[in-house]
Amino acid sequence: MTILAHRQPTPTTDVLTAPMEICWNFEYAIDIEKLRNLYAKAKEQQWNAERDLRWDLAIDPSKPIVDEAQFGFQALPVLQKLSKSQRETFTAHVAAHLLSQFLHGEQGALMTAAALTHAVPDYEAKLFAATQTMDEARHVEAYQRYIDKLAIVYPMSPGLKDLIDATLTADHWVKIAIGMNMVVEGLALAAFHNMRRQTTCELLRQLTENVLRDEARHVAFGSVYVGEAIREMHPDEREDVAQFAFEAIKAMVDNQGGVDGRGKRRRDPGFVKVLTESGIDPADFVASLIEAQQAGIKVERPPGQVHSFKDLMMPALVRVGAVTERTRALFAAENIPVFEDVSVLERMEQEATGVIEFEM
Ligand SMILES: [Fe+2]
Ligand SMILES: [Fe+2]
Repeated sequence: MTILAHRQPTPTTDVLTAPMEICWNFEYAIDIEKLRNLYAKAKEQQWNAERDLRWDLAIDPSKPIVDEAQFGFQALPVLQKLSKSQRETFTAHVAAHLLSQFLHGEQGALMTAAALTHAVPDYEAKLFAATQTMDEARHVEAYQRYIDKLAIVYPMSPGLKDLIDATLTADHWVKIAIGMNMVVEGLALAAFHNMRRQTTCELLRQLTENVLRDEARHVAFGSVYVGEAIREMHPDEREDVAQFAFEAIKAMVDNQGGVDGRGKRRRDPGFVKVLTESGIDPADFVASLIEAQQAGIKVERPPGQVHSFKDLMMPALVRVGAVTERTRALFAAENIPVFEDVSVLERMEQEATGVIEFEM
């Protein structure tokens, strides 16, 4: 065992300095009922990743863990040229890359949830954030065990790392809740929902279903509590928070190649490795993407998939008041649409947490 007593990064650590205030609260009465309910649900829905999942289920090496047709890369000319076994290798590595992002993202969530426990001013919010911290520890454990079985782990994408680092080093807990519980977990909620539908592996389906139930509570917490806090803020403070939300969304959109995913994406050395491991020349892959776009071939999502940005993140940010008139103009200048339809978001929250009323 190594105890890391120094502050310098090592090949497996990274050290950040956070400026956020920590808050005691000696008033133990609970007056935010919705948070009491979320905390009660969180206690009831605790599960044990070691005991409650069927780790004895073997992963069938002859079958890709996700359905190839669900990834939407099929239409790309560069993939059509590959043999069936090469395409299966590609699908396996894309899945391992995605699951590795889940694993690293969960570690980020573990730390932001712990930071929220420190910083939120209300006692009942501290209780809930503590349950989220435990949830995230369990998620890290579960994904680590699963990835261990796959024996392929990829590094964290720079875009995801920067977004979570900006969240972890924010100077106000509302920004942490926006960066993690609304933006990153909005991304995760959609990715988990889609993974549950795509996977052919029973163990991964069970794991994802359990994680998804916890994540929906975390997103609901962001909505309930951040909404209350933003309403009570001084307008200048609200603008500061809205600016953070805009920058987080802009960074996420830029990483993904624009709102429609058709622009230039930020380079991810892990994904380049996915391509080379599958025998695909990265330059050919990029050329093929451009060729497909010019030919009007769309890398479409299969029907029923949840779109994190359109269905979850933007409507959640609008609902809590984290988009102001000033930042609407910033979104418009960047051609980032402000989606406001909360129907998918509410359905997912209700499915996982029981009915929670949002009166915002
Ligand atoms: Fe999580
Ligand atoms: Fe979470």
